[in-house]
Parts: sequence; structure tokens; C-alpha cells
Amino acid sequence: MAQPPPAPTGSNLESLPGGADVELAHVSRIYQVGDGTTLTAVDDISGIFAAGSVNAITGASGSGKSTLLHLIGAIDRPDSGTVVVDGTDLAGLGRRALADYRRSIGFVFQRFNLLPTLTVLANVIAPVIPYRTGYDKKRRALDLLEQVGLGQRARDLPSHLSGGQQQRVAIARALVNEPRLILADEPTGNLDTATGREIVDLLLSLRDGFGVTIVLATHDLLITERCDRSMRLQDGHCVDDATP
Ligand SMILES: Nc1ncnc2c1ncn2[C@@H]1O[C@H](COP(=O)(O)OP(=O)(O)O)[C@@H](O)[C@H]1O
Ligand SMILES: [Mg+2]
Repeated sequence: MAQPPPAPTGSNLESLPGGADVELAHVSRIYQVGDGTTLTAVDDISGIFAAGSVNAITGASGSGKSTLLHLIGAIDRPDSGTVVVDGTDLAGLGRRALADYRRSIGFVFQRFNLLPTLTVLANVIAPVIPYRTGYDKKRRALDLLEQVGLGQRARDLPSHLSGGQQQRVAIARALVNEPRLILADEPTGNLDTATGREIVDLLLSLRDGFGVTIVLATHDLLITERCDRSMRLQDGHCVDDATP
């Protein structure tokens, strides 16, 4: 595994570990739809998302992007094939280890999914509220908000922010648990082009700063071009696997 680059100095963000190494081997996911009919949403996908790399999964709506992200995030299990993260096959993990694994991932969604009645700060802290952490949760959340350019908006409600700002909050929230892997499902899908580009710049800066591995589903070619690697899906198959 590549050595992670040094984390940004100042604040208490130095403790972020490096990125996860994700290896997919012949991964398939088959849904039962209707009586006796099956739909192969992800069909025999293999590939490596190397530690600290930024990877795009592209393809038309319904091509299997979200399903593949869910399999990598252990939100769902493959029907065949293996998802191996840092040498560990997720299929071999028990309940507690799987929960720990999910907690080591930052998720970012197209619709931001912020809790509307909580302040920006409370939204960022929310994922770690139930857990004992080695850091001061509030201090860390404020540092992350600073990092995404929203240090002044911590006490605001999400509805007072623009879409791009809400996605920045969601990215700060995704980082609060010191993730080694960020899975982003069409993170710019609800944003205009310029704002979407800013969000991608932010994600790329996270890779540069923390060495975190990023896998993002996107329709946007401009985003794909800026990633280290892209995997294009069509009807669940990988039809192109390229370094742009
Ligand atoms: N829970 C499910 N049950 C049945 N079919 C599903 C389910 N989730 C997704 N699908 C189907 O799997 C295919 C891939 O879906 P998805 O991964 O959401 O694609 P994308 O994210 O690329 O739009 C689609 O045909 C979709 O209808
Ligand atoms: Mg999707």
C-alpha cells in the first residue's frame, strides 16, 4: 500500500489515516424482480481502486453504479465474487467487524441528506455522536467545516445554505469519522456545472491532503476526466476501464 501523504497541519486533523485499497473480483449482484425474473444489476465486475486514488464509475441511469457502490460499502452483499478491502474479504466479516468497516467509510449522496432541523455543526457531528472517539468531536467538526470553507456557518440550518454549500457540509460530515474510503453517489448531480466543479475540486483536495481513496458515481465527463481512473458500466457490465 502506498504511503499516505502527510495530513494538513494545524487543527486536530493530523490523525486521519491513509486510503483504503479496494479490490473487486468477479462481483455480481442479481435482483429478483417479479415472479421468477432476475435482473443482473452488477455483472462480473473486476478491478482495483488503489489506496489514495480518485475513481469514477460512469454509465447511464440504471447501469449499476449505485449497486456497485453499495457492494463496496457493505450496505449490500454480492451474490458472487469478492470485495476485498486492504486484504480482507468483506464476506468473511462478522456483524461487528462489518459495522466497524461501514463506520470507516464516508458516504456522500446526490441529495446531500442533511437533517433539516439540526444545525450545520450538529449535522457534521451526528455520525459520531453514539461513539467514543479519540478526539474532541465538536472541535473536529468545526475544523472540518473550516476545511470545506464553511467555518462561519456552523450555527446555520441547512436550509439557509445553497446546494453547493449543503454538499460541502455533507462532505465534512463524511470526513468526521476519519474515513479511509469515500463513496460518493452522483455528488454533483443536483448542482450546476460550476458548483459541481468546486465540489470535485474539494474531493480532489481531500485525496491530496489525506490520501483517502475516493470512488464516485457520476454522469459528468468533466469530472471523469479529472479522476485517476474511470470504469464505465453498461447494463451492469464494465465496458471500459481506463485511466483518462
Ligand atoms: N433493490 C432493488 N431491487 C430490484 N432491482 C433493483 C434494486 N436496486 C436497483 N435495481 C435495478 O438494478 C439496476 C441498476 O440500478 P442502480 O445500481 O441504481 O443504477 P444506477 O445507479 O447506475 O442508476 C437497475 O435496473 C435498477 O432498476
Ligand atoms: Mg444511482
